[in-house]
Amino acid sequence: MSDQAIIDRIETLTNLLNDYNYQYYVLDEPTVPDIEYDRLMRELTALENEHPALKRADSPSQKVGGEALKAFSQVTHQIPMLSLDNVFDQQEWQAFIKRVKERLKTSTQIAFCAEPKLDGLAVSLRYQDGILVQAATRGDGSVGENITENIRTIKSIPLKLRGDNLPEVLEVRGEVFMPKASFEALNANAVKKGEKVFANPRNAAAGSLRQLDSKITASRNLAFYAYGLGFVGDLDGNDLSEDVLPNSHYQRLTLVKSLGLPMCPEVKLLQNEDECQAFYQSILDARDALPYEIDGTVLKVDSIEQQKSLGFVAKAPRWAMAYKFPAQEELTILEDVEFQVGRTGAITPVARLKPVYVGGVTVSNATLHNQDEINRLGIKIGDTVTIRRAGDVIPQVVNAVVAKRPDNARDIVFPSTCPVCDSAVERPENEAVLRCTGGLFCGAQQKEAIKHFASRKAMDVDGLGDKLVEQLVDEKLIKHAADLYQLTEIQVSTLERMGQKSAQKLIRGLDESKSTTLAKFIYALGIREVGETTASNLAQHFLTFEAIRHASTEQLIEVNDVGSVVAKNIVSFFAQVHNNEVVDALLASGIHWPSIEVKSADEQPLADLTYVLTGTLSQMGRNDAKAHLQSLGAKVSGSVSAKTDYLVAGEKAGSKLTKAQSLGVKVLSEDDLIALLKAHQVL
Ligand code: IVH
Repeated sequence: MSDQAIIDRIETLTNLLNDYNYQYYVLDEPTVPDIEYDRLMRELTALENEHPALKRADSPSQKVGGEALKAFSQVTHQIPMLSLDNVFDQQEWQAFIKRVKERLKTSTQIAFCAEPKLDGLAVSLRYQDGILVQAATRGDGSVGENITENIRTIKSIPLKLRGDNLPEVLEVRGEVFMPKASFEALNANAVKKGEKVFANPRNAAAGSLRQLDSKITASRNLAFYAYGLGFVGDLDGNDLSEDVLPNSHYQRLTLVKSLGLPMCPEVKLLQNEDECQAFYQSILDARDALPYEIDGTVLKVDSIEQQKSLGFVAKAPRWAMAYKFPAQEELTILEDVEFQVGRTGAITPVARLKPVYVGGVTVSNATLHNQDEINRLGIKIGDTVTIRRAGDVIPQVVNAVVAKRPDNARDIVFPSTCPVCDSAVERPENEAVLRCTGGLFCGAQQKEAIKHFASRKAMDVDGLGDKLVEQLVDEKLIKHAADLYQLTEIQVSTLERMGQKSAQKLIRGLDESKSTTLAKFIYALGIREVGETTASNLAQHFLTFEAIRHASTEQLIEVNDVGSVVAKNIVSFFAQVHNNEVVDALLASGIHWPSIEVKSADEQPLADLTYVLTGTLSQMGRNDAKAHLQSLGAKVSGSVSAKTDYLVAGEKAGSKLTKAQSLGVKVLSEDDLIALLKAHQVL
C-alpha cells in the first residue's frame, strides 16, 4: 500500500468505527454485528502498530488505556461545577415551585427538563475544535483532577465530536457511572479472587475512575450520560453560548446528543410543573428495572432565560432541584444475632437490628447468611452497621462502621448444638452452612418442611398459613406432612384463634390439595436442592413416582439439570425409612395426579427452544404457561441468558425484560404466547 493509501485507510476505518460506536452507544441502534466491528478494529490496530505516526487523535483504538500516571494533575474549571439542593417529599417540592414562581414574578406554568439523578460521579469533558482534550472530576467545584486518560477509555465517550461549525471550546458535563450488570460482574469476580468488593456501583465507578493506571479503568466498563454544558465559546474566553445554543435546556441536551454524546433515554421535557410529581413517581416505579443506579430525579427549569434570571445560591442553582427517593442505605445498631433453623436444617444467623427506615420500609431483621459472610463483614454485636434495601430485595448488612465500635462489642458465636432441638450441628466439607443433624426430629425442621409442603408452588393447601402450621406442630397435632390429612374439623377448631369456619376451610383446602401433579408432589417433599424446575424435569423424565423413588444415581444424572449432588440427595432421601413411611402415608391419604402422556418427538414442536417467563400473566398462571410450553417440548428456565430463545413478558415485566432486550432475545407478549399455544392445540 502507498503511504497515501495507508493514511486513507486509517481515516476510513477510524470514521467507520466511530460511526458504529455512535450508533451503538448514543442512538442505541447497533448497525453491524460485533464480529464485523472486531474485524475492522483489528485491521485498524494492525495498521496503527505498523505506522504509529499515522494514528489519529480520534482513533477508537485508544479505549484500552495507556501508560500509568504518577499522580493526577489539577484542573481549574472555567465555569464552576455546581451541586444541587435536595427535596425529599411533595411538600418540599411544592415549596420550591412556589419560590421559583415568586422569583420569576409569574403565575404561568413553567416547563421543566426532567432527568433521573444518576448515581455516579460528575465529570466535565472539554472539546477543542471537536477533539476531546481534557476531562476532569468535579473536585471542590472550582478545581478538579485531570482524569483525561481514564475518560478516554470509556467506550461511549467520543474522542471527536460529530458535526461541523463547532465552537472552539465546548465543555460537556455529565455523570460517569457503572451499570448494575457490570458492577455485579466486577464484584462476583472480586469474590472469586478473594479481593475486596465495592459497596455499590457509585463506589465502584469512583474507584475505577480514580486509577492512575488507565488500563484498569479500561477494564471496568464505565458508562456516561451528558446532563449539561460548561463553558461554550472561543479560546479567548468569550462566552458564545447564547449565540450558538438553543434557549431550552432539553434542546441543548438533544444537541449534545447529536454531537455524539449519550443522553439518558429517560430524560423528558415536561410542559408544566404539575407533571413533575408524576415523572418522579414513574421513575421511582421504573427504578429497579433500569440498568443503572439512580437515587432520585433532577428537575431543571427548561428555559435558559428563566435559569439566568433565577441565578444561584452558594453552590447550587435556584433553577434546579434534586427530588430524591427515600434512602436505600441507612446506619443502625446490630443489637443481637439469633440463629434460625431452616427446612433442611441449615442454621442461619439473623441480625436483630434497631428498627430503621430504609428503602421505604422499616427494617428490624436481616439475614447474615453464614459464618463466611460474617467473617467477610467483620461485624460484632453492638456495631453500627450499614443496612441496604433496594426495591423488593431483602435487606442486607453491607458493612460495619468500625470507628463507632463500642468497648463492649461482642463476637458473634455460632451455637455448638441446634438452638431448637439440641441435636449436634455439623458443617459439611466445602459447605458454608452449619446444619442441625436432627432431621425431622427437629421441631424447626418439621415446621419448615410442612410449610414448604403446603406452599403455593407445592401442594397449595388453601387455608394453611405459616402461623397455623406452627400452632399445629406446637400443639402436637401434627409432626409430618402426612399427619395433615388425618386432621379433623373438631381438632382444628379447638385451636386458639380458630373458629369453625376457618377449620372447615382448612379441611376443604387439604381435600382439594390432594388433586395435584407429579411435579408438584415431588417438589413438595422438600428434597434438598430439588426445586420446581428439577421436580418438573424429574416428572417429565421418569413419568411415574415409583420410577423416581427407585432410580439410581446414574439414572438420575441423565435428567436435565440434575448433577451428582442433586442425584445423591434424591437417593439418600428415599433411602431413609422414615421418609418412605411419610410418602406412603401421603399416597394412602388419596393424593393423586394425572398420568403424564409420553409425547413423540414430532409432537414436540418446541423441542430445543428455551423460554423464560416474566411479569404477571393475566389470562393464565405462570405455572400453567410453563406446563403448556413444556408439554410441547420447550425448556422453561428461570433466568435470561444468551441461550434464551424467547422471553414471554407479562405486565410489569422488570429486569428480565431489560436484560432480554439488551441481549437481543425475542420478546413475546401474553397474547403471542396464547396464539402460539392455540396454534399447537394445547389451549
Ligand atoms: S445537574 C448545575 N443533573 O448530582 C447543576 N446532576 O447533587 C449541576 N447528578 O454533582 C448538576 N444526575 O454528580 C445534574 N441529571 C443530573 C444528575 C446530576 C446526577 C449528580 C452530579 C452532581 C450531583 C449534585
